[in-house]
Amino acid sequence: MKTNPSIVYSGDYFALSRDALIDQVRKQMGPKRFEHVLRVEQAALALAERYQVSLEKASIAALTHDYAKEQDDQKMKHLIETEKLDSDMIPFGNNIWHGPCGAVMVQKELGITDEDILNAIRHHTIGAPKMSLLEQVIYVADYIEEARDFPGVEEARALAFDSLEKVVAYETHHTLSYLIENRKAVYPKAIETYNAWTAK
Ligand SMILES: [Fe+2]
Ligand SMILES: [Fe+2]
Repeated sequence: MKTNPSIVYSGDYFALSRDALIDQVRKQMGPKRFEHVLRVEQAALALAERYQVSLEKASIAALTHDYAKEQDDQKMKHLIETEKLDSDMIPFGNNIWHGPCGAVMVQKELGITDEDILNAIRHHTIGAPKMSLLEQVIYVADYIEEARDFPGVEEARALAFDSLEKVVAYETHHTLSYLIENRKAVYPKAIETYNAWTAK
């Protein structure tokens, strides 16, 4: 896996180097997910370049987006309670929790306080009615990283470099359709994302 040694962090968003951030991230997850995180960074950097988003912020947000994905459920539930995160997400499990919980953990444990980066982590799974370019880049990068293989991924990849807005709508529609077709519950905030982006 290419590791982008060319990106040098300024210290504005994370106090240490990219290598130091990678070491922190690696400790939080198994090797498979870690490889996914590196691929998301690759995709995020390509999109960031295309849409003139800060490469440094894209790198940091991508590397930390799944920081809470392999955390213990009890710890996550405790965090939802103590941080007063949306309690409606409790029945949905870590698939939904790890974005908002990850943003809290990344702030506390890594000292990352940039709201745009934290929102990108927070919203990477279900999106949000309003998303900054960085948030959109991370939302889409997670969906199209090179190992993703599902019907429609090639269309999503092509669309991603044509229009960020269109690919966000495409991703949201496909994710929701998949959940509904498989009779899975939809976290209400995902519907808010769908309504906002499908109307554009
Ligand atoms: Fe995730
Ligand atoms: Fe991910």
